[in-house]
Parts: sequence; C-alpha cells; structure tokens
Amino acid sequence: MSSRPTILVTGGAGYIGSHAALALKNAGYEVIVLDNLAYGHREIIEDVVKVELVVGDTSDRKLLDELFATRNIAAVMHFAAYIAVGESVNEPGKYYTNNVASTLNLLEAMLAAGVNKFVFSSTCAVYGMPKEIPMTENHPHNPLSPYAASKDMVERILADFDVAHALKSVAFRYFNASGADPSGLLGEDHDPETHLIPLALLTALGKRKQLYIFGTDYDTPDGTAVRDYIHVNDLAAAHVLGLEYLLKGGDSQVFNLGNGNGFSVKDVIETAREVTGAEIPAIESDRRAGDAPILVGSSDKVRNMLGWDPQYADLTKIISHAWQWHQKRHSK
Ligand SMILES: NC(=O)c1ccc[n+]([C@@H]2O[C@H](COP(=O)([O-])OP(=O)(O)OC[C@H]3O[C@@H](n4cnc5c(N)ncnc54)[C@H](O)[C@@H]3O)[C@@H](O)[C@H]2O)c1
Repeated sequence: MSSRPTILVTGGAGYIGSHAALALKNAGYEVIVLDNLAYGHREIIEDVVKVELVVGDTSDRKLLDELFATRNIAAVMHFAAYIAVGESVNEPGKYYTNNVASTLNLLEAMLAAGVNKFVFSSTCAVYGMPKEIPMTENHPHNPLSPYAASKDMVERILADFDVAHALKSVAFRYFNASGADPSGLLGEDHDPETHLIPLALLTALGKRKQLYIFGTDYDTPDGTAVRDYIHVNDLAAAHVLGLEYLLKGGDSQVFNLGNGNGFSVKDVIETAREVTGAEIPAIESDRRAGDAPILVGSSDKVRNMLGWDPQYADLTKIISHAWQWHQKRHSK
C-alpha cells in the first residue's frame, strides 16, 4: 500500500497534464491518468511518465464511478478539455459539451463518491480584453470565445458546488504555457499546433515554411503583441502546491499563473532564432480579431499564499527546453 494519496489526473496524456503527472509522481503521489487520447499521447505516459493510464472519457459516468469506488482517490486534477480558441468559435457545442458538461459529470461522480478536492485548469482568457496590466485575479471577466466562456462557466460551477456541497477547489488561470521538461523527454505536441513557440521551432526544423506575426501596429515597444510565457514545469509545480494546500484543508481559491514578464512576438521569434541558429522566416500580417495588445498577469497571490517560486522565468531557457524536446520529437 502506498503511503501517499492517489490523484486522478484527467487529460494527463496531454501537454500540461503529462508534466503535472510527472511532478506528482516525483513528489511521491500515486497517479492515475484518465485520458481519451483524442489529443493525448499514450507513449508519453507508458514510456516516460510511467504511471497508470486509463483510456476513457470524463463523460463516462460508469467508468468514473468504478474508478472512484475502487481506487481510493483523494483528489482530482482536471486538465481534460478541448483547447483551440478558433475552433470553439466555429463549433461551440463541442466545447460546451466537453469542457462544461463532461466536467459537471466528473464533479457529480466525485460528490457521489465523497471526493471533494479538485484542481482545475482555467485560463487568463476568462478576463477578455485587459483593463489593467498586470492583471490580477480581481480583474472583471469578459470571456471572448466559447472556449474562454466554457472555463468561466466551470469556475462558476465550482463556486456554487463549494457553497452547496463543500467541494474545495483550486482553479489556476494560466497565461501562455510554454517550454518543456528539461530532460527533453516530455514537451508540447499539439496537432493542430496554434502556439507561437512551437510554431517557431517547427519552422526552425523545416516542418513549416514560415510563421505569421499577427499585428505589427499595436501600442507596444515593437508593435507586436506582448504575452506572458510561463514554463510548463513551473505550472506543474504550482499544481502540486495547490493540491497540497487542498489536502491540508485549504478553502477554495483562484490563482493566476504567469511569469509576470511580457515578451513580444518579435522577442520570441528573435530568441528562437538565437537558440536554434535557424532563420525562421516570419511574415508580418494583420491583427486577428479579439487579440489583446498585452496580456501579462500578476502572480503575487499564488506566490504569497502557496509559496510558489517559478524556476524558469527566462525566455531563453523556456525556448531552449522546448527546442531540446522538438529536436528529439522530430528526429525520428
Ligand atoms: N496550453 C495553454 O497555454 C493553456 C492555457 C490556459 C489553459 N490551458 C488549459 O490546460 C489544460 C491542458 O491543456 P494542454 O495544452 O495540455 O492541452 P492538451 O490538448 O495537450 O491536453 C488535453 C488532454 O485532455 C484529453 N481530453 C480532452 N477531453 C477529454 C475527455 N473528455 N476525457 C478524457 N480526456 C480528454 C486530450 O486527449 C488531451 O490529452 C486544458 O484544460 C486547457 O484548457 C492551457
């Protein structure tokens, strides 16, 4: 029998969930990953993270009931969701079904089994256009896409379930998750890929011909949009701290997770060129509707309350780790 609690990690075969599953395992927890493998990678769990993988869907109440009845699960970390903002605009039903209805199904199964600790992947996109920089957790919400709205709805459900059922949750609103485990064995592998750093690295590898800079006339130092990039291992470490806070009896909380530093699209591309030594052709193009000029978060609350201390705030380090992973991933 393990002396440490068992944690169910939904979406654990995906990018952020796999790093969190490894961090939990390294912290001594028993980990069960539940992933439908729609976008996850079986081999990452079986060959690298090496924890139990249950292939299944969070909409499957029978499967969830069975897991909770037989596995002595102390808490759930919920990464499973669809994540493509643009797709959510065209297919909102897909996003509300998976991100909201299936999450509700999971929460109901937890309550039925007496499991009342939940760590949730939310997003800074719940804030919409920033009214102040850096954005704090008190910033008003104005989700601009069905994806962002789906996360906002779950946050509301969590608040209501706390009042009604004493379900204790930590919701982390991530800014731009980036980087890869320094081992080079785990990293970001989305298909389709929409995130800037992997797009730049795929271009460096010759997997893409060029990348696009959307907007060069923003009111920012170099005219391109500024974002807050947070290393995925720092995200994973925050999840372990959030879990431990709940296991010790902490009340429900919402925390931003960002680096606190803004980097422009041009900063990212220039740093990717330095790290890779590749040209990385970039085409300047028009702004995209709904993109904010600057999104940078304040993470003071999580630093003060949970003692979170990010290790990889440096952009060169973030991109170097991602580059190690991309080279290995595409060497086959
Ligand atoms: N990547 C970012 O920058 C970012 C920013 C803010 C929030 N988030 C949130 O973090 C979480 C993880 O994002 P990611 O980048 O690792 O995405 P990802 O697509 O790599 O991982 C999500 C995983 O969930 C699985 N999944 C989806 N629906 C499922 C279901 N119903 N049942 C079981 N498994 C299911 C997928 O197969 C995939 O492995 C998501 O909830 C996302 O909304 C990500």
